[in-house]
Parts: sequence; structure tokens; C-alpha cells
Amino acid sequence: MAQQVKAVIARAKGAPVEVTTIVVPDPGPGEAVVRIQACGVCHTDLHYREGGINDEFPFLLGHEAAGIVESVGEDVTEVAPGDFVVLNWRAVCGQCRACRRGRPQYCFDTHNAKQKMTLLDGTELSPALGIGAFAEKTLVAAGQCTKVDPEASPAVAGLLGCGVMAGLGAAINTGGVGRGDSVAVIGCGGVGGAAVMGSRLAGAARIIAVDIDDRKLETARRLGATHTVNSRTTDPVEAIRELTGGNGADVVVEAVGRPETYQQAFYARDLAGTVVLVGVPTPEMTLELPLLDVFGRGGALKSSWYGDCLPSRDFPMLIDLYLQGRLDLGAFVTETIELDAVEQAFERMHQGDVLRSVVVL
Ligand SMILES: NC(=O)c1ccc[n+]([C@@H]2O[C@H](COP(=O)([O-])OP(=O)(O)OC[C@H]3O[C@@H](n4cnc5c(N)ncnc54)[C@H](O)[C@@H]3O)[C@@H](O)[C@H]2O)c1
Ligand SMILES: [Zn+2]
Ligand SMILES: [Zn+2]
Repeated sequence: MAQQVKAVIARAKGAPVEVTTIVVPDPGPGEAVVRIQACGVCHTDLHYREGGINDEFPFLLGHEAAGIVESVGEDVTEVAPGDFVVLNWRAVCGQCRACRRGRPQYCFDTHNAKQKMTLLDGTELSPALGIGAFAEKTLVAAGQCTKVDPEASPAVAGLLGCGVMAGLGAAINTGGVGRGDSVAVIGCGGVGGAAVMGSRLAGAARIIAVDIDDRKLETARRLGATHTVNSRTTDPVEAIRELTGGNGADVVVEAVGRPETYQQAFYARDLAGTVVLVGVPTPEMTLELPLLDVFGRGGALKSSWYGDCLPSRDFPMLIDLYLQGRLDLGAFVTETIELDAVEQAFERMHQGDVLRSVVVL
């Protein structure tokens, strides 16, 4: 029988989010219902609320989550009731042109639940990134559930579901950061902080954290930054060049999503270096660069979707590193909050007070 649960929705562009009752159908073929234990507040949730992603209101927000599989539909074999899972937004199809070429991390037809969750009056909800986990329970495609070691705390494990994975993967997978590299990360919130941590894990020799907020720079140091630059008071391009023998960094990760910070990333990298854009811009933003500089500086200008991760490969491995004490994922959890405090968490994120607020249910 369909269930009624409490959840956080964004009803209209810019309006404060609200806790309401939603209807979660029983899982159909290929689907699973998950009892959510924890869900982090990501900047992308705020983008949805502000209409920056699309206009398909009302949104069921939340997408960085961990929980317990409650029930599964017919034919589901990969997970079973009782499994501890991190939810992902890359349940690869295995059939599209990317999957067929052996590049499932670019899958163009990822699976989500086929049935819709609704409001009590039947209005269909758009779950953020096909998840919608600021809810006591949610309905997803079974492939969106990735089993990990249940020793891990849900508040920490859930963060791999989006921002932390996006940042770690932007550095390691997309940027290809390796031993001895110099890396700069522009914007050190949850995503950029994870890029700093990923760069350390990969053996980068010099990791320069750039932000406009000194508190974020302090945290970035704890996460592995060897140098910090406050770009409100110091020109970040000059500072990064100075710190890299006048050359620029091998890899620059942009984790803000703005034209001016992208431009900084572009000019702060060494010749033939790599820029990784992981910050998400909004529709009205444009970028102007001298084409001769694009050619003359060479290298690679890449975007990183979800850190080019493969959840089934990366989540269990990163949880293992965390449980072994080799990856301090707990450092991202600034505070745990209740379901009705998401709006205040957006405000604190906006003020720069947190890396991650995590709703614990
Ligand atoms: N590509 C992906 O797959 C993916 C996944 C998750 C999130 N994101 C995006 O990553 C971005 C960061 O997300 P987050 O959750 O870390 O957000 P956040 O708000 O926690 O962090 C943003 C950081 O950027 C800093 N900042 C703002 N303006 C700056 C400027 N001009 N120069 C330097 N630093 C500046 C802020 O002080 C803050 O520390 C967002 O755009 C989000 O939508 C992308
Ligand atoms: Zn595919
Ligand atoms: Zn996210």
C-alpha cells in the first residue's frame, strides 16, 4: 500500500521550503523504497529552490542520503530489504552509447523510479536529481541504491551520494590528479573541500585552497590544503602562480560555478594544465575568453559531472578508506539538523557557516 510520509518540498521559485506530507507508492519492478536515515544539504538543492535547474516545481528536495532498503519491487536482485545503502544519481543503464563504449560514468540514460511520488492532492513531485531524500522514505530505482559497509554512520556515508563524491572525483577522476602534482581548488565548500581531500589522497604535493571566506580556508587546511589564498584580498591567479614557481597549477578545480572564478581557474593553471569545472552555473551566465589563449595555453578544459564516479565502484571503496581512518569524511558534517530546519540550513550555507548540514531522521 502507498505510504504517507513527511518530506521537504519547494513549491515555487524562491519560496521558502516547507515540510509536508507526500505519498510514496509501493515499489514497482526495478524500484525500491528506502527509509532515509540521513540526508545532507547540498548547494544544488538551493539551485532547485531558486529555479536555477528547471521549472518543474514542486520539487522534492534532498539527494545526499543514506538509509535502509525497506521494500523492493519484482525482479530486483541487487538489493534486498534491510540493506544499508547510499543513494546515487547515476544508476547506469548499460545500453546507451556511452555505456556501450565502456564509459558508464557518462551514462546518458541513468535510471530513476518510473512511478511518481505525489502530494496528497495527486500533484506529481519532481525529486531532486531523481532522489528526493529530505523525506522519511523515498522511492528510487533499485540501481540508485549502493550497498556499503553498515559500520559507517549514515550522516557521513550519505555525503558520498553527491557533493563529497563530486569533489573527490573532480580531482581524482576528472582532473587525474596524481603523485607530485600541484593543484588549486577555487571555492572550498563541501564540494571544493572534498576536491582538496581527494588531491591529498592522490598524492598531490601542493594543494592551494582559494575562497573568499577565511573559515572555509581554515577547514581546507584541515582537509589537506598546503596553502590558502583569500581571493577577496589577494589576486588568486597571481598567488597561485607565485606558489607554483611562476607557472600555475597542474590542475585547477573550479567549485563555485561562476564565470569570474572559471576565468581565474583558466589563467591559474600551468601551460598544458587541466581545468575542471565542478561548480554548476546558472542559465544566464556566459563566459568570454580570447580564443588565442584557449589555444595557446593548451591542456584540457573539462567539466565534471558527479566526479565521473561509478557508485558501485567508488562508494564502497571510499567507505572502506573512511572506516580505516584514511579519509576523514566526518570532517564535512558541520551539524546535524531535523527535517524542518532545511530552510535555515540554506541560510547558513549562504552565510558560509557550514560545510554540510545533515538532516538526521
Ligand atoms: N558537478 C557536480 O556533479 C556537482 C555536484 C554537487 C554540487 N555541485 C556544485 O558545486 C558547487 C559548490 O557546491 P557546495 O555544496 O560546495 O556549495 P557551498 O556553498 O558549500 O560552497 C561554495 C564555496 O564557494 C565559495 N565562494 C563563493 N564565491 C566565491 C568566489 N567568488 N571565489 C572563491 N570562492 C567563492 C564560498 O565561500 C563557499 O565556500 C555548487 O555550484 C553546486 O551546485 C556540482
Ligand atoms: Zn548508459
Ligand atoms: Zn548535490
